[in-house]
Amino acid sequence: MGKGFFIRKTVGIVGIVLAAGAIATIIALSVVYSQEKSKNNENEVKPTGAVTTPVPTTEPSNEPWDQWRLPQTLSPQTYNVTLWPRLQPDATGLYIFRGLSSVVFRCVEKTNLILIHSNKLNMTLQPTLTALGSKPAPIIESIVMHTKTQYMAIHLKEELTAGESYELYTEFVGELADDLGGFYRSEYYENGVKKVVATTQMQATDARKAFPCFDEPAMKAVFHITLYHDPATVALSNGVKQFEQIVNITVDDTFVTRTTFAPTEVMSTYLLAFIVSDFGFIEQNIDKLQIRIFARQEAINAGQGEYALSVTGTILKFFEDYYNVPYPLPKSDQIALPDFNAGAMENWGLITYRETALLYDEEISSNGNKERIVTIIAHELAHQWFGNLVTIRWWNDLWLNEGFASYVEYLGADKAEPTWNIKDLIVLNDVHRVFAIDALASSHPLSSKEEEIQRPEQISEVFDTISYKCFCIFTTNFLQQTYLDHFKFNNTVYTDLWEHLQRAVDSSSSTPPRSVQDIMDRWVLQMGFPVVTINTETGQITQEHFLLDPETKPDRPSEFNYEWFVPISWTKKEAAQPLYWLFDDNWVLANINVTGYYRVNYDNENWERLLNVLQTSRQSIPVINRAQIIDDAFNLAKAGIIETTLALRTTLFLASETEYMPWESALDNLDYFYLMFDRTEVYGPMQTYVGNKVEGLFDYFTRLTNWENLPPGHTDQYNQVNALRVACSTGNENCTTLVKTWFEQWMENPNVNPIKANLRSAVYCSAIAAGGEKEWNFAWEMFEKATVASEKDKLRAAMACASEPWLLNRYLKYTLDSNKIRKQDATSTIISIASNVVGQPLAWDFVRANWEYIFKQYGGGSFSFSNLINGITKRFSTEFELQQLIQFRDDNAHIGFGSGNLAIQQSIERTTANIKWVKNNQETVLEWFINPL
Ligand SMILES: *[C@@H]1O[C@H](CO)[C@@H](O)[C@H](O)[C@H]1NC(C)=O
Ligand SMILES: *[C@@H]1O[C@H](CO)[C@@H](O)[C@H](O)[C@H]1NC(C)=O
Ligand SMILES: *[C@@H]1O[C@H](CO)[C@@H](O)[C@H](O)[C@H]1NC(C)=O
Ligand SMILES: *[C@@H]1O[C@H](CO)[C@@H](O)[C@H](O)[C@H]1NC(C)=O
Ligand SMILES: *[C@@H]1O[C@H](CO)[C@@H](O)[C@H](O)[C@H]1NC(C)=O
Ligand SMILES: *[C@@H]1O[C@H](CO)[C@@H](O)[C@H](O)[C@H]1NC(C)=O
Ligand SMILES: [Zn+2]
Repeated sequence: MGKGFFIRKTVGIVGIVLAAGAIATIIALSVVYSQEKSKNNENEVKPTGAVTTPVPTTEPSNEPWDQWRLPQTLSPQTYNVTLWPRLQPDATGLYIFRGLSSVVFRCVEKTNLILIHSNKLNMTLQPTLTALGSKPAPIIESIVMHTKTQYMAIHLKEELTAGESYELYTEFVGELADDLGGFYRSEYYENGVKKVVATTQMQATDARKAFPCFDEPAMKAVFHITLYHDPATVALSNGVKQFEQIVNITVDDTFVTRTTFAPTEVMSTYLLAFIVSDFGFIEQNIDKLQIRIFARQEAINAGQGEYALSVTGTILKFFEDYYNVPYPLPKSDQIALPDFNAGAMENWGLITYRETALLYDEEISSNGNKERIVTIIAHELAHQWFGNLVTIRWWNDLWLNEGFASYVEYLGADKAEPTWNIKDLIVLNDVHRVFAIDALASSHPLSSKEEEIQRPEQISEVFDTISYKCFCIFTTNFLQQTYLDHFKFNNTVYTDLWEHLQRAVDSSSSTPPRSVQDIMDRWVLQMGFPVVTINTETGQITQEHFLLDPETKPDRPSEFNYEWFVPISWTKKEAAQPLYWLFDDNWVLANINVTGYYRVNYDNENWERLLNVLQTSRQSIPVINRAQIIDDAFNLAKAGIIETTLALRTTLFLASETEYMPWESALDNLDYFYLMFDRTEVYGPMQTYVGNKVEGLFDYFTRLTNWENLPPGHTDQYNQVNALRVACSTGNENCTTLVKTWFEQWMENPNVNPIKANLRSAVYCSAIAAGGEKEWNFAWEMFEKATVASEKDKLRAAMACASEPWLLNRYLKYTLDSNKIRKQDATSTIISIASNVVGQPLAWDFVRANWEYIFKQYGGGSFSFSNLINGITKRFSTEFELQQLIQFRDDNAHIGFGSGNLAIQQSIERTTANIKWVKNNQETVLEWFINPL
């Protein structure tokens, strides 16, 4: 329990205050787009020629090559990299690339060892070392490849001289595998012809899989890139093409084009990109800036890149103003790839996307698809400054990079789509999701120490755990003042940002009660967040660390004793601008519009008054808070702080609610009840209750749109989908008839899909759930035929709605065949199947039976193990399931869980909590649904 503070009824005096004029408190959250990265596989690839085989070291050692971090003895300056990806397999059936690379580095501290990252590359020539100063270079004594730590270690007979520069030249060959990491290949069919694209995903630690390099974000350098490629293809990289340097030559009896790119700015290795494809593009020039969108020819010809092109310029201009720093590069390319593991990657000047994150079809894509595209574009463009121009020193500060981008993406998207009120959705889309994870004892502080994040799989885990919150206090124009300018082309740690914020605060008129560092450290160095309890009877306000299971103790005690500075300010009833509170005659509501990262609890009387307001005059509570009251209540109930029935009662007013946010919040929270109870006797009464509530909404949209039109508002369009989805899933016959008719019409005439784009996901799922083999096979056929990625995704998710176990089992098997389900989609397909109550046990059996195979096959980066584990176990709520989970962990300890280690821990914790919750609540919940009052 934290310290207490008192308010009198009308005048609040709040001690846990941060309210300073020029400073806005902004919650920025980072939800990384599943950027699961390559895992640390032992490298079986053996070097050739003069290079000796690795010496396996079993004992821990202090040798530099057994450390995960590079020594600070050498500092790279420029690289000259030439790569030649072969888009046809060689005689042995292998796709490969050849490379030459030289790196010029300065010796900072004398040493007789050159350690440089190199992973899965076979040297085809003895590397050579040249001195650029007057003294000759030392002779190379031996070269050892360390596969575990992914180094090439070059031992020298004498020492390199501090202050001198040297050039290391290597020639090598690597595999252009379909493993979605490093330099890899993506395949697709166009008019029945198989096409291959060579592309890259370097973040976090895979640049070393493309060429030997000092592969840490702070080892910035200038890169001269050259690509050899078939004259019929286009080569892209971070820099602009140097046209005078595109020449046709013959090498190894092959006629190729050699494209050389302008040298890059000083940058990190993880932001490099090289792509060879026969893609098409569209372009636009804004001032002198060239903006291009690349994709498969077919997609470009169908106009699928137009939307992205139309918003990019607006967003770039917005960020130029926002940062007050011009876009740092002469061009901005964005490219949609058929195989791409993450959602997108912010490579400097050449951003890569999965197709659904960039391509939009007016007829076929939904408004949700559109929102995803505009927010991801804004996110990646935001990184071009914050992340790329100024870069974190090490991955432990990734939260700063991602948290910031995940917040400003809303600002950028809002600029491009000003009518959507998209900033309101931060609460639903991000805050609630992060709250959910951050309330577990196995959560972790935002900031870890550099030493705690070392190995590639630990770095992956940082990306995989989407639990970063970033409480950034920004003055409206803090960035332009000093931070970006001071650190451009350089690296920072998070305290550098606080320092610059402090300067901005110091120069502003009003000053917060504490230093920026003092306020922020509490959010950054301790995990979790508080629940603020307001007792309107006694006037007392207290804060406590909010844990979903109060009996679990946080793994790491906090030096701050789990106390936070919570941005609560108070206002008198008559005050003009109630920022954080609403006082009405008799009720109090805090955290207006959820501008603070905390939950709020009240005394029972105030809860009753709030319930009453919701029922009688809900308009006096802002929409965002109507959603928040529900979410707070459900979570407080889950933590045992309030009665579960009180939480359920916050949904009673939905019968007359038509706004999206409260509905979505309620459905998200009821989803937990479905997960816990859809295999129990609670299911029936719960369906009846939800069905009754949604009837009004369904009728509302029937009247408004007759299911032929779109409601005008962006979020109303979302709620139209909710109305249809929930009405159908609770068995509303008007709904099921509608859906059945549409789907039948489509099956009769597959060339004309009569279903509105926004409604497709819901309609497909509902029709396939009600149908059998015929419907499923039709969906599969349409899936294979679809040329728009978002349409494919909708069908892929809907096929998991089937009710027949054998259809689901067959579908599970398809996920292991990349000709049927792309590797990038395997995880999410399995998770979709597990979300279906029929598919859940099948998916769990499947994953257990195939774990070794899945781990070996996909361990190289294409699976998000953390998402997979969380996805298949989220329904677990019995002792038996807990035992199975523990058994699974123990049985596979020798294989490992890669980036899913934390997820296993969290799943066990969650299952334990679920068992307890179900035991304590099932009776009450059943009774309440039977008689909801
Ligand atoms: C880069 O390497 C290529 C091939 O080795 C060479 O022709 C070119 O001159 C080099 N460029 C620079 C800038 O060093
Ligand atoms: C690298 O060498 C290993 C061992 O000789 C071989 O198995 C592998 O195929 C080689 N890789 C390439 C891309 O040539
Ligand atoms: C290279 O060859 C291709 C195909 O023969 C041709 O279209 C292209 O114009 C040539 N480029 C140059 C720079 O000669
Ligand atoms: C980068 O920042 C560090 C620490 O702030 C500073 O010492 C260094 O000189 C900077 N480097 C460049 C190239 O600006
Ligand atoms: C709360 O958010 C809504 C919707 O964005 C906005 O219209 C309203 O002015 C906000 N209220 C306060 C007190 O900031
Ligand atoms: C179905 O629609 C009809 C006519 O529009 C209406 O009278 C009936 O109440 C609706 N049934 C349900 C279950 O909503
Ligand atoms: Zn990002």
